Amino acid sequence: MSLPTVVVHDKTFELFISEDRIQTKVQELGAQLSKDYQDQKPLFIGVLNGSFMFAGDLMKSINIPVEITFMKISSYSGMKSKGKAHELIGLKESIEGRDVVVVEDIVDTGITMEAIVKQLHNSGAKSVEVASLLLKPECLQRDVKVKYVGFEIPEKFVVGYGLDYDGLGRNLKDIYQLKHE
Ligand code: IMP
Repeated sequence: MSLPTVVVHDKTFELFISEDRIQTKVQELGAQLSKDYQDQKPLFIGVLNGSFMFAGDLMKSINIPVEITFMKISSYSGMKSKGKAHELIGLKESIEGRDVVVVEDIVDTGITMEAIVKQLHNSGAKSVEVASLLLKPECLQRDVKVKYVGFEIPEKFVVGYGLDYDGLGRNLKDIYQLKHE
């Protein structure tokens, strides 16, 4: 039986992680984070644009007092990493002395996340952990610790649930992977 597919721009993607599986995993991560941070009033920082859906659902599954904010960093265009990370944009909150959880859609090479974590430590964060819905372990080029991982996935381009291919596909409820015809 063939999997459902979607066409984004010029490429065909097939269903990879269903909405149900994503939601179950997000609940698990939320429960774990609620337990680990129960007395700390952590500051969650969502990395825009990709994390908006994951961050929204994750926040709904957290049952302790938390703050949530967003920032932007751009390091990707099309389907290839430009291999450089830019500065953090739009972060107004004071990071000094805070327990920070960076919320990301995917860690691929780890270049972006390494830069983010470094800058948050330099800004005086008490602790910095990373919650990423997806991780491509085979692609990691940096020694970044991703403490909270939803799914470890192979080295294949994915779209949906916040992740885009050249601007499209973020609104899909499920995650799709590039289909090789
Ligand atoms: P890294 O710096 O290589 O870890 O790249 C991280 C960023 O690249 C993520 O925040 C995504 O925006 C983007 N990215 C990496 N892999 C994919 C993918 O498979 N689909 C869509 N975006 C991706």
